[in-house]
Amino acid sequence: MSIALITGASAGIGAAFAQELASRGMNLILVARSEDKLQALADSLQIQYQIQVQIIAQDLTEPDAAAIVFDKVEQQGHSVDLLINNAGIGDYGDFAESDRDLQLKIIQLNTLVLVDLTHRFLQGMRQRRSGGIINLSSVAGFQSMPYFSIYAATKAFILSFSESLSAENRSYGVTVLAVCPGPSETKFFAEAGFPSYLIDLVSRTYTPTKTVVRDALDALEKRDAIVVPGNPINQVLVNWPRFFPRDAVANFWKFALAKR
Ligand SMILES: NC(=O)c1ccc[n+]([C@@H]2O[C@H](COP(=O)([O-])OP(=O)(O)OC[C@H]3O[C@@H](n4cnc5c(N)ncnc54)[C@H](OP(=O)(O)O)[C@@H]3O)[C@@H](O)[C@H]2O)c1
Repeated sequence: MSIALITGASAGIGAAFAQELASRGMNLILVARSEDKLQALADSLQIQYQIQVQIIAQDLTEPDAAAIVFDKVEQQGHSVDLLINNAGIGDYGDFAESDRDLQLKIIQLNTLVLVDLTHRFLQGMRQRRSGGIINLSSVAGFQSMPYFSIYAATKAFILSFSESLSAENRSYGVTVLAVCPGPSETKFFAEAGFPSYLIDLVSRTYTPTKTVVRDALDALEKRDAIVVPGNPINQVLVNWPRFFPRDAVANFWKFALAKR
């Protein structure tokens, strides 16, 4: 049976990936900070689907976190067939007034750890000439976003990086996919400190996490490089910046996301 490693598996989209892949008979390695949540999810999936689930409780912003996770997997003698780089956070607000350490942590978690894990697990996949890597970007990756600047920049990084890796690795039998959801039904916006009126607004276009996951896995099967799952509004969100000057796009989001 094949193995998927999912970062940020204790909640939201990561937990939905765990649920869906378990229902398809995959063994899982679940990574996040909340050991209790990971253990509860692992217990329920093992009982429900008779699969094996290992948990790794790890803060991925700690130094050498990717190496620690990789070494634990190697020590167990597992080879990962599907890596899902899902853990990601954001921080709403004016960059100049923000907590500088937090901005650096966001870059660390959303991009550096993703690159590190990808580089480590890709080696075995290429040797075996099979495997998949799913990286969580966002509709935010297609445009600048004042008041959510670092987050959008990290998601643009992930999008560009994943498209390049998709092309580099196709002939080695490894599929790399950037998943670019729009607002999805998780605690993400609350965790990122969005004001409640903005959360109310975006929640009207929420895509269920199950849909994000199913669209992502369908795209992986088709060996696509990018997928924009769910609500058709998300297609508008990724495409409209192509038809307007870049400063108009930035000014639109400055207006839309400004604190009122
Ligand atoms: N929800 C959306 O609207 C949306 C839209 C586009 C893209 N995305 C992307 O989708 C991914 C998942 O988001 P989500 O909505 O599911 O968010 P979420 O519900 O807030 O879940 C975030 C996950 O990341 C984990 N995590 C956070 N900090 C971590 C750290 N330092 N080390 C290890 N794990 C950490 C959390 O677990 P612990 O707290 O237990 O560590 C949790 O499992 C993110 O990359 C996000 O950018 C989300």
